[in-house]
Amino acid sequence: MSGPLVFAHRGSSAALPEHTLAAYLRALEEGADGLECDVRLTRDGHLVCVHDRRLDRTSNGRGRVSTRTLAELDALDFGSWHPGCGPLDADEPVDPARTRLLTLERLLDAVREAGRPVRLLVETKHPTRYGGNVERRLVEMLRRYGLTEPGPDDPVRVTVMSFSPLAVRRTRELAPALPTVLLLDTLPGWLRPGRLPFGTRIAGPGIALVRARPRLVPALRSAGHQVYVWTVNEPDDLDLVLSAGVDGIITDRPALALARRG
Ligand code: G3P
Ligand code: CA
Repeated sequence: MSGPLVFAHRGSSAALPEHTLAAYLRALEEGADGLECDVRLTRDGHLVCVHDRRLDRTSNGRGRVSTRTLAELDALDFGSWHPGCGPLDADEPVDPARTRLLTLERLLDAVREAGRPVRLLVETKHPTRYGGNVERRLVEMLRRYGLTEPGPDDPVRVTVMSFSPLAVRRTRELAPALPTVLLLDTLPGWLRPGRLPFGTRIAGPGIALVRARPRLVPALRSAGHQVYVWTVNEPDDLDLVLSAGVDGIITDRPALALARRG
């Protein structure tokens, strides 16, 4: 492989409902190098892969994820809202992998079973609302799976991401060997290339920022950082980040990104 790593954002989420097992398995079939997921806590302390604070957009439930137990969330349908969920043949039942809530544990099991190298980017949501519990639970779980300090032959590699320097700091304090990404949707006044906080080596600017600041990627890279850009879905944007020499592309359309990467 040459060129940047391609990460499937919430799975192959243009084609299939985001954060479902089916979306992640599709991304692996398409050849993605890695997978991106968001994690939040349920009322009873389980890490679930859901982007929004509320259930309304991506399930048939209502209200906040954090007010529900895992059992309550498991009874919901997380796929039917998406046009890609339906059966190809209307006589066939919908595959539960397209509709069932995904927990981080279920995703880690699937990644372990994939039998090939997989890089997993886990974004902790929400750093201030949960007061550090997401990072604590995440590190506990990764430790159980032997992923906080993987051996040299371990095919699964986890990187933890956040928009919050505080969350990055918490993760690094709990598991100093885990790589982290500081996500950037704007350029904070304190940011100096070469001095990302708390030993973070990877910068994660959004594509809008990269478009607006053409010198940002070269400046970060020449200061010794890797650069992973999100969420790059359009052909022109893919070509822009490929020509800028980024290290990682986070996309809803991994097959397109891989084809463009060549
Ligand atoms: O991969 C980073 C990206 O996912 C951050 O934004 O809102 O999609 O979680 P969001
Ligand atoms: Ca995310």
